Amino acid sequence: MSEAQLNPLDSTGGVPAQVPPPETSPDTITGDLGEAQLAGCLALDQAALGGFWSAGQWATELVDPRRPGLGLWRQGALVAMACGWLIVDELHLSLVVVDPRQRRQGLGRRVVEALLERAEGLGAKRATLEVAADNVAALGLYGALGFQTAGRRCGYYRDGRDALIQWRNLGRGGG
Ligand SMILES: CC(C)(COP(=O)(O)OP(=O)(O)OC[C@H]1O[C@@H](n2cnc3c(N)ncnc32)[C@H](O)[C@@H]1OP(=O)(O)O)[C@@H](O)C(=O)NCCC(=O)NCCS
Repeated sequence: MSEAQLNPLDSTGGVPAQVPPPETSPDTITGDLGEAQLAGCLALDQAALGGFWSAGQWATELVDPRRPGLGLWRQGALVAMACGWLIVDELHLSLVVVDPRQRRQGLGRRVVEALLERAEGLGAKRATLEVAADNVAALGLYGALGFQTAGRRCGYYRDGRDALIQWRNLGRGGG
């Protein structure tokens, strides 16, 4: 994850309902994050991460076709999202977050898997990210998805924590 992701919060603040994209499934809806989801992204970002990206950064993320983003909605509320940057044939995961009230229900796994599949469809052959070395939940999630630690960036985060570099192949041979 990028340097700006320092202190994911434990906020239990609510995320306002919004109209999701028109893809349906019984309980949880998966859809693209686009300009129309700006308010929902900001709200979930604020509630779960204390504002990882500014409104301007989100606006950029949501319109760039080389920055795919997917969300999960439950009862009209955005509850999980995963975003990445496509750099040649690599997906660099830039943000993964689940509503603090809805964790350990498989939503993180589901939204990241969907983004990896999307990236593969767009030509990505590998996926990578940085994660704080003490982020047990995220390391558990990425490990469960087949990511492997390929290196450590000492003092990567502003608060001095190290980052672990994670990689995974996509397609056959992936996780
Ligand atoms: C990391 C995060 C996205 C996980 O989302 P989640 O929806 O709770 O994860 P899932 O329910 O899909 O869990 C999938 C697997 O990840 C691992 N995992 C998830 N949370 C874990 C935790 N707190 N401790 C240990 N392992 C955990 C488990 O292997 C889990 O499988 P299991 O439930 O069958 O044991 C969520 O905790 C979050 O939003 N954290 C704050 C933001 C953040 O740190 N993002 C990643 C930055 S790189």
